[in-house]
Amino acid sequence: MAFLGIDLGTSGLRALLVDGGGRPIGSAEVAYDTQHPAPGWSEQDPQVWVDALHRAVAELRGACPAFAGLRGVAVSGHMHGAVLLDADDRVIRPCILWNDTRSHAEAATLDATPEVRGLSGNIVFPGFTAPKLEWLRRHDPEAHARVAKVLLPAAYLSFHMTGEHVADMSDSAGTSWLDVGARDWSERLLDAGHMRRDQMPRLVEGCEPGGHLRADLARDWGVDGPVVVAGGAGDNAAAACGIGALAEGQGFVSLGTSGVLLIARDGYHPAPETALHTFCHAVPGRWYQMGVMLSATDCLNWLSRISGRRPADLTAGLGDRLLAPGGVQFLPYLSGERTPHNDADVRGAFTGLGTQTTLDDMTRAVLEGVAFGLRDTAEAMKTAGARIGVLQAIGGGARSRYWVRLIATVLNTPLSLPEGGEFGAALGAARLARIAATGERPEDVILPPEGGEVIDPDPALVPAFDAAYRRFRAAYPAIRAVQ
Ligand code: XUL
Repeated sequence: MAFLGIDLGTSGLRALLVDGGGRPIGSAEVAYDTQHPAPGWSEQDPQVWVDALHRAVAELRGACPAFAGLRGVAVSGHMHGAVLLDADDRVIRPCILWNDTRSHAEAATLDATPEVRGLSGNIVFPGFTAPKLEWLRRHDPEAHARVAKVLLPAAYLSFHMTGEHVADMSDSAGTSWLDVGARDWSERLLDAGHMRRDQMPRLVEGCEPGGHLRADLARDWGVDGPVVVAGGAGDNAAAACGIGALAEGQGFVSLGTSGVLLIARDGYHPAPETALHTFCHAVPGRWYQMGVMLSATDCLNWLSRISGRRPADLTAGLGDRLLAPGGVQFLPYLSGERTPHNDADVRGAFTGLGTQTTLDDMTRAVLEGVAFGLRDTAEAMKTAGARIGVLQAIGGGARSRYWVRLIATVLNTPLSLPEGGEFGAALGAARLARIAATGERPEDVILPPEGGEVIDPDPALVPAFDAAYRRFRAAYPAIRAVQ
């Protein structure tokens, strides 16, 4: 018995095969590009994902004979993107992605519409799905009129595998069309966005069966029995399943292109005024809250590009021992910011530069700026009444011990480095596939990793970082006044 978790990411697709006990057996990755036809635009052709899926499966089949025993599949996808299908299920135009900001005016209008925040539980951010359709209605009414179904990226890949229009709750929560508390499409929200219920896919929970692998695909893939395709999940909910963040207070800090601090919640406690995102989890009766920073490792990558030094060399220059906050300050808003400012136009800044400032000082400031941005989310979590329990550190940036120690100290919370953390969302998806196919209880499958190193805060430096965080908070209004 084997299960397949597919992580449909922004820069590539990863397929992870696990055995009946959830242990990874093999994985394959295929990279692809994003198109930017205009400044702030970000699009992908869904056919590219389909091709990537088939290439990854071909590679896995070649390497793992256990693939023939496949019983379940689930997809984790980058959230918020709109795949538009016509009445014959043909893709109408390229998918507008989560990091596309063309619909900021439409987002502001929807966000100001009565009841929208109340029902969706969230600010309507420019990256969310509903404003994308409003943009299309205004700028390409002919295409908008042909829309018979809107699928999120993960749901589109599942549709390719099953032939059914099905979406899971966790991903659908990021559309601004879902009543996130009631876990159902909202007539009021659909009305506000000029959409209809018949244009929406059927909703299932992420760990429930959504359909079955088409017989022709099963034959092509050399699979000998029926294969359940689970509802799947948005990538952050899937990553939470991958590291076992299910119960109240369990969560992660993810240092990827964007930075995320996510906490699982037993109940629905929206707090849109904090710019936290409150979304359904991938299992019934649970939600999660997260703050999203648009640039995390992206800030280090930017410094790497302009300095000509690799990111790992930049952080290695700081050594292993955490230093007290430096005199140079960095605001990490290179692409604007979601949490806590909901400000698409703000840009980053260095302050406190002197003639003696070195590249090491600037690297340290960049790492500190991202850590303080995550602290902003932690403070918002407190306002929303979320208790921050055990946090795992995941994503590429977690390879820097210095950065993890710094974040642990700024948050004054120990951070665990999970073994096998690199499988993240793909492992979470594989777990959802297993639950949907076997009927096991989510609590028995979605477990935190055993072992792994714990990085503690440095107690001697906590007060100094508290003071530096207060200076960071004061810098945003000051920088906004001059930009
Ligand atoms: C979440 C978000 C991103 C995308 C891409 O709201 O926009 O995390 O899911 O990873």
